[in-house]
Amino acid sequence: MEGPTLTPNRIIELGYAFRGAKTLMSAVELGVFTALAGSPLGGNDLRRQLGLADRGAEDFLDALVALGLLQRDEHGRYRNAPEADLYLDSHKATYIGGFLENLEAREYGLWGSLTTALRTGKPQTGFEAKAHFGSLYSDPKRLNFFMKSLTSGSLPVARAMAERFPWPRYKTIVDVGTGQGCLPVQIALSHSHINGGGFDLPVLKTTFDTYVERHELSHRLQFYPGDFFADPLPSAEVLVMGRVLHNWDLPTKHMLLKKAYAALPSDGALIIYERLIDDERRTGVGGLLSSLNMLIMTAGGFDFTAADCIGWIQGAGFRDMQVEPLVTGHSMIIAKK
Ligand SMILES: C[S@@+](CC[C@H](N)C(=O)[O-])C[C@H]1O[C@@H](n2cnc3c(N)ncnc32)[C@H](O)[C@@H]1O
Repeated sequence: MEGPTLTPNRIIELGYAFRGAKTLMSAVELGVFTALAGSPLGGNDLRRQLGLADRGAEDFLDALVALGLLQRDEHGRYRNAPEADLYLDSHKATYIGGFLENLEAREYGLWGSLTTALRTGKPQTGFEAKAHFGSLYSDPKRLNFFMKSLTSGSLPVARAMAERFPWPRYKTIVDVGTGQGCLPVQIALSHSHINGGGFDLPVLKTTFDTYVERHELSHRLQFYPGDFFADPLPSAEVLVMGRVLHNWDLPTKHMLLKKAYAALPSDGALIIYERLIDDERRTGVGGLLSSLNMLIMTAGGFDFTAADCIGWIQGAGFRDMQVEPLVTGHSMIIAKK
């Protein structure tokens, strides 16, 4: 009797996966989805508008069709597939292309050094440990680019959190490590009784203020400048830490949770969101690869399971922990003081 048929297909697809990812990143960089947002275009018109050479253009556009990002009608005209139209047209408020632009500009190249990072245990960015964000922010262009990428990566998460947390029970929020303030803005837009703001390094004040002003929320949300290594965290009924803990080593994770506990009033809530690794560490591909990204990008950062995090939170004094899935592979852990 023959055994089960083992094919090499999955291995080969996984090996080739970077080609599809890079095709998507190039399409975002070239503005394909923004060009097609208004109306469909024929291949030649689209090629000319994007500034593409003749050779390769048809394969590129048809590869995007095969990847499910574009559609081509019987007249050979291309249009955006619905998801691409909603999330990859840079004129829409739902645009998440900044996140893909950052993947291409920073992570794609650095992941070429994964093997070296695994052999040495060292980050591959050329930045010092604590100086990581300082170096990133020393160039205004790089700062803006990174901020846009954070905002587009956290936008779907912030919208889901606005729906799935009992905001009517609370009046104030501070988002710790807020970037431009995408999260407090989304919560404040959905819940008119909520006030507060975002805490981050002082260099981010202008980008935060501009973003909040653009959403006409300057009267309800303010920037709290500070360095969480040196300063206490501002007080609020809800503190959020999103994609912050994973940047740091275990002693820093403990330090941040203790500071969060000290800043909350009793009955206040802490919300942590990350791409969590499953507790068995067998299936959480997103969280595990995110942790390898921390190996490449930071000196001591790593991602974690809900069980790991709940243990640390309990150690800091919190109670009543709950884990809730959000979107895009992120989950939130809620804890009470
Ligand atoms: C990975 S980003 C996450 C941003 C945002 N919460 C999100 O999910 O998009 C980490 C944030 O921590 C901030 N941060 C880093 N070091 C900090 C420090 N020492 N004090 C305060 N904020 C810091 C960074 O500026 C950045 O905004």
